[in-house]
Amino acid sequence: DQTPPQASKRVSVKTLVESLGLTSIPSSYSYSLNPNESAGSEPDETIPTIDFSLLTSTDPHQRSKIIRDLDRACREWGFFMLVNHGVPKSLMKETLDGCNQFFNLPMEEKKEYEGRTFGSRLGLEQGEVAEEYSKRTREVIKELLKGVSESLGFEQSYIEKAMNLESGLQIFAANLYPLCPQPELAMGIPAHTDHGLLTLLIENEIGGLQIQHNGKWFNVNPLPNSFLVNTDDHLEILSNGRYKSIKHRAVVNSNATRISIAVPLGPSLDTVVSPAPELIEGESGRPAAYLPMKYKDYMDRQLEGKPCLDHVRLPVA
Ligand code: SIN
Ligand code: FE2
Repeated sequence: DQTPPQASKRVSVKTLVESLGLTSIPSSYSYSLNPNESAGSEPDETIPTIDFSLLTSTDPHQRSKIIRDLDRACREWGFFMLVNHGVPKSLMKETLDGCNQFFNLPMEEKKEYEGRTFGSRLGLEQGEVAEEYSKRTREVIKELLKGVSESLGFEQSYIEKAMNLESGLQIFAANLYPLCPQPELAMGIPAHTDHGLLTLLIENEIGGLQIQHNGKWFNVNPLPNSFLVNTDDHLEILSNGRYKSIKHRAVVNSNATRISIAVPLGPSLDTVVSPAPELIEGESGRPAAYLPMKYKDYMDRQLEGKPCLDHVRLPVA
């Protein structure tokens, strides 16, 4: 005879599913979705794909084409799949496997690692894998941001300098979505936007990410070995709303455990971010659509669960 767990006890969903053998989900985890909020996809709309290798091309025609594609992907979708990025498939897989091993440690052992960095969580070997993964993804994001600087009409190092990326805040966030007996009644991660500049995401080929595009939700089925890239709050602010921070969420399923790793890169914590002055035009143009705010203050608001983007967005947006 099983007593339902109390939400206040902070039992992990993984423990719930595995140790209790649940066939229905406790009401504290239940999430109801308005029917018109469920996901579909239009056959004539495809998520853009960006070929990273073209971004480093020395052919000026190829470069300007890929910058235009990048601009369109950021402007119309705020989301794209990145292929030919040069990060080894084996490193992506080892990083996902390392997270899986961590999630599979008994709760008591996992607790011992609480508050420590990922590097020490998994012991030296996996720590090195995570470190290498973080380093490589940081390089990819910085290269993408050179392209984004150009697509906004700036020189390549504009964002790097303006956002102080050499000490930019990079986060390694691993998510585990255990099997859910009633996936239609639950949500893995509810709709949100990310706070940095750009986020790279990988997953173990199970699917579950959904993005909002033109007010509708789309299922994302990533190409094998691609990165999923989304534009974040601080790119929206810096671009004065040209590139919107994309809303996304993750659904669960009853067949397979999903793992995803999101690596956002943001400004340095002491950078005060406001729309690029060059993108604020005089009387005929678009006025500043966001208030300036220090990235650290923004992050503090986020941690306190307060509205962030809605707080700095001005009515002109
Ligand atoms: C996230 O938004 O951090 C995770 C999304 C996902 O798991 O696909
Ligand atoms: Fe996210």
